[in-house]
Amino acid sequence: FSAFLTDTFGRRHSYLRISLTEKCNLRCQYCMPEDGVKLTPKAQLLSTAEILTIARLFVHEGVNKIRLTGGEPLIRPDVVDIIAELRKLEGLKTIAVTTNGLNLARSLPRLKQAGLSHINISLDTLVPAKFEFIVRRKGFHKVMESIDKAIEIGYNPVKVNCVIMRGFNDDEVLDFVALTEKKPVEVRFIEYMPFDGNKWNFKKMVSYQEMLDQIRQHWPDIGMLQTGPTDTSKTYQVPGFKGQVGFITSMSEHFCGTCNRLRITADGNLKVCLFGNTEVSLRDVIRSGASDEELLQIIGAAVGRKKKQHAGMFNISQMKNRPMIFIGG
Ligand code: GTP
Ligand code: 5AD
Ligand code: SF4
Repeated sequence: FSAFLTDTFGRRHSYLRISLTEKCNLRCQYCMPEDGVKLTPKAQLLSTAEILTIARLFVHEGVNKIRLTGGEPLIRPDVVDIIAELRKLEGLKTIAVTTNGLNLARSLPRLKQAGLSHINISLDTLVPAKFEFIVRRKGFHKVMESIDKAIEIGYNPVKVNCVIMRGFNDDEVLDFVALTEKKPVEVRFIEYMPFDGNKWNFKKMVSYQEMLDQIRQHWPDIGMLQTGPTDTSKTYQVPGFKGQVGFITSMSEHFCGTCNRLRITADGNLKVCLFGNTEVSLRDVIRSGASDEELLQIIGAAVGRKKKQHAGMFNISQMKNRPMIFIGG
């Protein structure tokens, strides 16, 4: 495995998350600041050729999984072509997308045909009126339709990401677990995380333990399943249910020790951790005409600066970072 993608703690970064766009067709409160965001001028965003150059280089060095994020990645007009090009990269086993599901249903056949292997869909409530409140737009039924269509076309498991916020949807945890009885989905409850402009506070965060306690009161025999060594979630299943339930415990029990993730922002920065602002512009290096070797030196130096773990929820809530919409999760 490449020394450039291995950090000082021995973590091998084989999973690259690429943000395809800063734009989104929703306005989720936990992701986008109320006043919106100032978009980067187009000339400063990565072109498709630049994205593929970066992807090729990382895959050559050992990346075997790429996730396309945003903003909303399916907004990028050439997303299908990008997937088709990625599929040609030898060594790349997984091409995944994290989407809000709004426009997914209609493009599913093309995405599948191009080589998209995994789909995660964000959905934070099962109540249409609450959906409109949290995402500041309409579209609940389209997202539900996308989940069903993704299952129908053969994605398994379809993961449903659900950010739990106290006073908003913490009363729906059991309903989301119930959804896994008949649907072969993996619902993943995500602890609410702080990003610039999202008004995070500790009281709004519902911890893994609290959610699990609530679920166990109703389904005492829910059992933990085996997960992969670098998975972001802890996975459970109610016996007899078709789907699973996961927890992404970034705040109460971080999983930085096994982190294998690097990120590329839509404006071309390599971001070595979701939190903090240790970033370096690969766009500028590429545009200066640098060789692959020079690019790798810069990537390696940034990976070498990656911290052992994030600084703790209260510290990261004070640290300079980007709004989530510019990071892609
Ligand atoms: P899988 O590859 O299907 O396991 O998905 P994933 O969890 O890697 O990606 P996804 O985009 O579905 O993200 C789900 C949640 O996990 C989001 O809230 C992300 O911000 C969070 N997440 C993803 N990667 C990391 C990470 O490296 N660190 C932390 N703290 N959270 C992460
Ligand atoms: N805290 C936790 N998860 C978040 N996501 C977006 N913002 C936050 C936040 N503040 C999730 C989205 C999406 C994934 C990429 O990140 O729900 O599923
Ligand atoms: Fe990796 Fe940073 Fe997430 Fe920890 S917080 S798991 S180091 S990206």
